[in-house]
Amino acid sequence: MATGKFVFQEVSLPQQKPHYNGLLFPAVLSPNLIGTKSTTIQLFDFQEAIKAHKPWLESLLNKRGAILFRGFPVTSPSDFNDVVEAFGFPEAVYVGGRASRTQVVGRVYTANECPPGKGIPFHHEMAYVPDFPTKLFFFCDEEPGEGGETPIVLSHIIYDKMKERHPEFVAKLEEHGLTYIKVASDVDDPSSFTGGSWKSAYKTDDKSVAEDRASKLGTKLEWIGNTAKIISGPVPAIRSFDSGRKTWFNSLAVSYNGPASEKIYNGNTSVELGNGDLVPDDAMVDFLNILEEECVAIPWKKGDVLLVNNLMVLHSRRPLLKPPRRVLASLCK
Ligand code: FE2
Repeated sequence: MATGKFVFQEVSLPQQKPHYNGLLFPAVLSPNLIGTKSTTIQLFDFQEAIKAHKPWLESLLNKRGAILFRGFPVTSPSDFNDVVEAFGFPEAVYVGGRASRTQVVGRVYTANECPPGKGIPFHHEMAYVPDFPTKLFFFCDEEPGEGGETPIVLSHIIYDKMKERHPEFVAKLEEHGLTYIKVASDVDDPSSFTGGSWKSAYKTDDKSVAEDRASKLGTKLEWIGNTAKIISGPVPAIRSFDSGRKTWFNSLAVSYNGPASEKIYNGNTSVELGNGDLVPDDAMVDFLNILEEECVAIPWKKGDVLLVNNLMVLHSRRPLLKPPRRVLASLCK
């Protein structure tokens, strides 16, 4: 069967939502073979097209926040690694990260080891340290039976809506930032989405090396036997990058422990304003609702590659209702 060159074509999906300017979020690209002599494409063609059109793809990513590549011949973790390599962005090392993740091949890791039946709240990747990845790749290796989407949402929309509804809280957040606290043992706990041990987080068994690596990330470690209390921050919770728009750049939803009466979230983390004040429960309830209203959740298809601008977009994971599901990730600077 003939193979060869193709052009990227933008396609639409019912789940997309418009930006303020009407452009759809995310962009969805598929191969267009019309006008070529080919009837199918190979992975190599996809890699070559990425290299040839990298400036255009990057500007699309920066305009739209995320690109879903659908219908390309990416069939295995090593194919996915080749796609990531074709973009040529430097790899971001996962030092100081809170999840437990395992290398699959090359630059490809499991996205999170925690049980797929558990959802993961919205966050910017590694917003709690100064050295966060700027781009995230996800790959659907095994299509979910049901559920298990990776919802995404434009962060500046969340900032605008929260500022409208909770101006005082947002002003405090801008002034003081957030302090994130996590209690980590010396063994990974894959039952939790923030279950990475301090040894995994800082890639060492040595407490003083861990302290040193943590301090470079603005993080302090306090020891309770072999368990570390990891205190990150205060770090800014609202940021503006190149676009000049303010983004809701934080891990508040992941770290919040829920109102004192109902511990609905993860038990090993907490978060407070940088001045020690608590995050108001009413603002959190609105915040979680706004995320759900504004997000886009496209059901995964085998072979999908999703490229997310981590400076513009928050991501999450919906609980898997019917197995299987295997979604892998690669983080870039
Ligand atoms: Fe994440």
